[in-house]
Amino acid sequence: MAGARTIHVPDPSWGNHGHIFRSAGLEVQNYAYLDHRTGTTLDFDGMRAALSGLPRGSVVLLHACAHNPTGIDPSGEQWQELAELFAGRGLVALFDSAYQGYASGDLDADAASVRAFEAAGVLPVACQSYAKSLGLYGERIGAVNFVCASREEAEAVLSTVKQTIVRPAYSSPPLHGARLAAEALAPSTASVSAPAGGSTPLSPRRQVLGDAALFAQWRGELRGMANRVHRMRVLLADALRAEGAPSPDGGDWGHVVDQIGMFAYTGLSASHVDSLRERHHVYLTRDGRMSMAAMKPADIEYVARAVRSVLAE
Ligand SMILES: Cc1ncc(COP(=O)(O)O)c(C=O)c1O
Repeated sequence: MAGARTIHVPDPSWGNHGHIFRSAGLEVQNYAYLDHRTGTTLDFDGMRAALSGLPRGSVVLLHACAHNPTGIDPSGEQWQELAELFAGRGLVALFDSAYQGYASGDLDADAASVRAFEAAGVLPVACQSYAKSLGLYGERIGAVNFVCASREEAEAVLSTVKQTIVRPAYSSPPLHGARLAAEALAPSTASVSAPAGGSTPLSPRRQVLGDAALFAQWRGELRGMANRVHRMRVLLADALRAEGAPSPDGGDWGHVVDQIGMFAYTGLSASHVDSLRERHHVYLTRDGRMSMAAMKPADIEYVARAVRSVLAE
């Protein structure tokens, strides 16, 4: 990666990627990702062709899971093919992992992309955010992980990153968030009654990631959150079909269910989004991205009706 002047990001990508990389002095180029013919599916052939044409050593940003904004991820087989392509062509994989555990509800399933690359002999770099998965948006919780070929390489990477990025940029990381993540926000001992059977009450300071019981509880909560979002997808697709709203991609709204993560890439145009906002007070980003995490069962029918109405305009 040393000396890279360009980063390749999917078209489209999280809106902030361009700003971040340009402000770090990199040129940002897009590679094919969304199939613009449907507006709701992956253009895997285009993606493969674009990446196959890059020079060795090119740095490519990938979304580890729950691609933002589209909610469209490569399948397991496609990740495998990409991992082999990266290994064969000597491409550098920079993963943005902002939704591990939040996408499928399973921390391991959501890490499968990164692990497939590692297994294929690529040494991925993974930028990990815990903002969503730990519900700590404002605390700046994250890490950049470099998989290295040897201990010597790891020591050299750590020292370079410290000298060239960490020290000039922020020097020491914000600790408060990391402590919240590591130490459970458990109720005080006084307010926790010992469960029947007389086991010891919860300690107020135990590590979420390091304590088996709290880790299991957190995994369960992630599953609950991901399942709820998936249920909203199913309900919305059913309601849109029941309303007789024509899906913008000519399909049957199955993409709303198949996509993953917080967002549905509906296929609605900017003018549909404007009408939804102006006439119905339903708010999406102008690329047609709808937050499924913000949806409640009680909203579904209203939203489906509003969508049908703007599509008929
Ligand atoms: C792909 C992606 N990367 C990074 C982030 C931000 O992570 P953080 O809040 O830790 O900066 C987000 C969302 O906010 C995102 O969607």
